[in-house]
Amino acid sequence: MTKPKILVQLDGDEHASVFDAVVAVDSAIDHLFQYHSVKVEQIRDLVHGAMFTRGPQDLHNTAIFIGGANVAHGESLLLAATKCFFGPMRVSVMLDANGANTTAAAAVLAAARHVDLSRSEALVLAATGPVGQRAVRLLARAGCRVRVASRSGERAAATCEQVQGGVDGASLTPLATSNPDETAAAIEGANIVIAAGAAGIELLSTETRSACASLQVAVDLNAVPPLGIGGVEVMDKAVERNGVVCYGAIGVGGTKMKIHKAAIKKLFSANDLVLDADEIYEIGRELELAS
Ligand SMILES: NC(=O)c1ccc[n+]([C@@H]2O[C@H](COP(=O)([O-])OP(=O)(O)OC[C@H]3O[C@@H](n4cnc5c(N)ncnc54)[C@H](OP(=O)(O)O)[C@@H]3O)[C@@H](O)[C@H]2O)c1
Repeated sequence: MTKPKILVQLDGDEHASVFDAVVAVDSAIDHLFQYHSVKVEQIRDLVHGAMFTRGPQDLHNTAIFIGGANVAHGESLLLAATKCFFGPMRVSVMLDANGANTTAAAAVLAAARHVDLSRSEALVLAATGPVGQRAVRLLARAGCRVRVASRSGERAAATCEQVQGGVDGASLTPLATSNPDETAAAIEGANIVIAAGAAGIELLSTETRSACASLQVAVDLNAVPPLGIGGVEVMDKAVERNGVVCYGAIGVGGTKMKIHKAAIKKLFSANDLVLDADEIYEIGRELELAS
């Protein structure tokens, strides 16, 4: 008899994310077990509980979702979880702390609908945050040349170094964009811009965006006014404005939700999947190809 699908939600926050719980239930699981305030040193016992209760032939019906607002903590939990596995004794795991993986995947897929990434030059603003770093990595993996921007040139360079280590042949240029003149210089000649800044911060003005003749696609991930890119509306989904295809945060959000649900479903197709940024992006690509 087929075992019911159990998703174990491991969350570093004081309350396990309601958002992630709702998406899990909407992704056709049978049971959701939620754990909050999870620390790295507690992972082993929690993961053992998931991997030692069913026989290897049934372990694809148990999976782990790692969430929480702190993405670095989520990464530590993922590493600790995967270290618990051995031989056939493993369950599939997905990391989407603070929605960073699904959001970055949806942003890059939005751009890929309109331009060939392998022949593109992208500017990622506020590229140092969890979403920005992942967007840089996904773009670089697709062969895109990426300008990696931050208010601090040092932080931009550190992000480049980190991504470079994981993507062979990545073409990354660190840039400081601490004032409008630097931002105008940074975008010159780029055909994609992704604004991955903190909520409520405008990173690119309408004037600078409009003056950039090379720009083809603008993606803003900040849903809280003032938005990240001047003149791009939060609901924009492939809306053309002055010859530029624009996406706002909610316009990207629909794709993000589809990717999140598809990734949860995929967890139950095998017991050895580790779904991090690259794997989640591939799930998004498969969805785009199928639609
Ligand atoms: N739709 C969704 O489901 C979803 C999910 C996740 C995230 N998001 C959105 O995606 C965006 C990026 O998320 P995140 O978690 O990566 O963001 P984050 O860590 O809060 O911030 C990203 C970067 O923004 C820059 N920044 C912070 N404060 C700033 C300020 N006062 N002025 C200018 N720049 C500032 C910083 O870069 P530097 O210091 O290097 O300049 C920081 O690394 C956010 O707007 C978030 O709300 C949406």
